[in-house]
Amino acid sequence: MKQSEFKKRRKQFMQRIGKGNIALISSASTQIRNRDVDFPFRQDSDFYYLTGFNEPDAVAVFAPGREQGEYVLFCREFDEKKALWEGAHAGLEGATVHYEADDAFPIDDLDDILPGFLENKTKIFYPLGRNLDFDQRLLAWINHIRSQSRSGVVAPSELVSLDSIVHEMRLFKSANELKLLRRAATVSANAHIRAMQVCKSGLYEYQIEAELIHSFMSNGLRSVAYPSIVAGGSNACTLHYTENKAKLKSGDLLLIDAGAECDHYAADITRTFPVSGRFSEPQKQLYQLVLDAQSAALEQIKPGLPWNQAHDASVEVLTKGLIDLGLLKGKLKKLIKDEKYKLFYMHRIGHWLGMDVHDVGAYKVNDAWRLLEPGMVLTVEPGLYIPVDCKTVDEKWRGIGIRIEDDVLVTADGYEVLTDGVPKSIVEIEALMQAL
Ligand code: GLY
Ligand code: MN
Ligand code: MN
Repeated sequence: MKQSEFKKRRKQFMQRIGKGNIALISSASTQIRNRDVDFPFRQDSDFYYLTGFNEPDAVAVFAPGREQGEYVLFCREFDEKKALWEGAHAGLEGATVHYEADDAFPIDDLDDILPGFLENKTKIFYPLGRNLDFDQRLLAWINHIRSQSRSGVVAPSELVSLDSIVHEMRLFKSANELKLLRRAATVSANAHIRAMQVCKSGLYEYQIEAELIHSFMSNGLRSVAYPSIVAGGSNACTLHYTENKAKLKSGDLLLIDAGAECDHYAADITRTFPVSGRFSEPQKQLYQLVLDAQSAALEQIKPGLPWNQAHDASVEVLTKGLIDLGLLKGKLKKLIKDEKYKLFYMHRIGHWLGMDVHDVGAYKVNDAWRLLEPGMVLTVEPGLYIPVDCKTVDEKWRGIGIRIEDDVLVTADGYEVLTDGVPKSIVEIEALMQAL
């Protein structure tokens, strides 16, 4: 992503904060995995969205109207020894030259310098509750300013959620963001194809996971967007199954929910297919039902339609299908009203997608479901999960878990599926798996 995009975002953000106010956000911290080893660093999405700065130990300050510069970055000073052991880092000069901060200060001087920024400001925009240490420091700085009130300094009187501004911005994807989402989607779709091609009974779930990671990484996307779910047979009925260590059996379905991250943007794809390459009759019937539910939901993705309408469409198709197949008994309306479908379909149709796989953005506005608008990206992922021990249904259905998930952009007149590179119809899947 070019610096100009981050600059544009900061400008918009500062307009929304308004002069006389200030916003603060701290970077993510490195997390210890064990002893001298850290987890791979992942920047806080809001911080990255506004700064493009990919280092820990940093704080960004936005002070609209500040004469000496509105955008200030506190970060680590350049340290040659650190560079030798750990590699490149921007330092104060890099923060201004490469990341276009108006001013940069050492992060170690934060307690001395930052309170000065807060003096005589009315509101502080800040993601309260995300980093408890930083919350405490902020309160200490405010108290310090209050203690000086007799010298004429005024302490900020309001702490305002920064999320409401940044998350609303993040909900609408720019052309540059869409490029990254498309790349994440394409690479992930190809990885799913590879998984279908190599799948055979006797392999272990983790071997399929390895194929996915191989595909992501060899295409330059070094991180998954979330831990891959590779769930053979009834493991698919555990919604967030990540153990991935069972042996794949012919006759079972395999559910894969996996996506790569491309420069902080996620893909989130699920496909379910037969280990053997051929669906059994009961698998086919349930699979087609989930696919029909997905088609019905996709038809509800259009500007002006409320977000929940796609969910309601999926509930109706699934419940009707479950009645037709004999898994639910009763009248459609009543079964929906009593939420009987939840025994087999217990999650919602999807979620916003972006820098976070479950991305930010309000689903309701003033207590009403949000209306879809062009530029929003969401997943559409109906599923059916028949518990292995479900005595109320015929044995042939038990232990089948199916989810079909695509990433969808709301366009001016409808929707575009970003992840349609990977097949999902029964005919296409069987053809792909037999083509080898
Ligand atoms: N991969 C998590 C989800 O589908 O929401
Ligand atoms: Mn999802
Ligand atoms: Mn998923």
